[in-house]
Amino acid sequence: MAEAQARQRGGYTEDVSAERLAEIGLRFEVDGEVATVTLDRPEKRNAQTFATWSALARIGENLPERVRVVVVKGEGPSFSAGIDLRMFTAEGVPGQGSFSAAAKSEDADFEQRIRQAQAGFLWLRRPEIVSIAAVQGHAIGAGFQLALSCDLRIVADDVKFCMKEPALGLVPDLTGTKPLVELVGLAKAIDICLTARTVHADEAMRIGLAESVVAGGDLERAVQDKIGQLLSTNRDAAAATKRLLQGAQARTLEEQSVAEGIEQAARIKALFG
Ligand code: CAA
Repeated sequence: MAEAQARQRGGYTEDVSAERLAEIGLRFEVDGEVATVTLDRPEKRNAQTFATWSALARIGENLPERVRVVVVKGEGPSFSAGIDLRMFTAEGVPGQGSFSAAAKSEDADFEQRIRQAQAGFLWLRRPEIVSIAAVQGHAIGAGFQLALSCDLRIVADDVKFCMKEPALGLVPDLTGTKPLVELVGLAKAIDICLTARTVHADEAMRIGLAESVVAGGDLERAVQDKIGQLLSTNRDAAAATKRLLQGAQARTLEEQSVAEGIEQAARIKALFG
């Protein structure tokens, strides 16, 4: 009852028990300093709903402090085929409405709902963690954007990235446009989005969308290797360095140098004070 009421308030946020996550098509596991989020609806190619995004946001809010690395992956042949296409039908996704219903709502209400959905993606950039998307097969629309919301992308050689939204009359709105431009540059981002074409593994590697490409059967091992490397550095130094790197583009060289000094002074106090 409480859950139903929360949903009516536009939330979909109350319950991230393993049972509820299973209903939504998600799994969440924590093993020491590593958390794994698995899109687990392979029979529907891990299509995502508002409930997926809301649950992701709650997972982010409740992430144990000890976690340093978050892996995002998808069960089955595809990482994710994007938004659940039932959202485009009159019936929509049971309990979550449809775009035709949303079109009749106040703009501010729907914009607020999009902000809630985006919260499921934004936490993956926190300085305290490094997020890794392990991507095989299709990563379309919301699937592509989920991969873009991670710090690193390790991909299988059958990966197929596609920003399908403009082909459907929509824009990518799940936080993917900024990381895409930062990774590949404006011209290539325009090319990829406005043609809605597929980017395969070799191009993904060449233009900086992927950190590494491996054979499908080696994806798990490649991710484990990267986790081992990431955990080998000092936790607080890693977070401070990620903060510096994330802020670098927006700062002048002078400002960045000052920021480096501030972070380093804090490190030296912590280590030797
Ligand atoms: N939503 C709901 N169901 C989906 C789905 C989706 N996005 N993608 C696949 N499925 C379902 C299929 O309907 C099918 O279900 P049934 O077995 O019940 O018929 C099942 O998953 C398997 O699909 P396919 O047989 O098509 O699998 P495939 O491996 O041959 O093809 C695919 C995979 C290329 C991803 C193809 O399924 C496809 O093109 N899916 C749609 C992709 C799409 O257009 N997504 C929307 C992107 S836009 C977006 O995400 C943005 C946004 O936020 C607005």
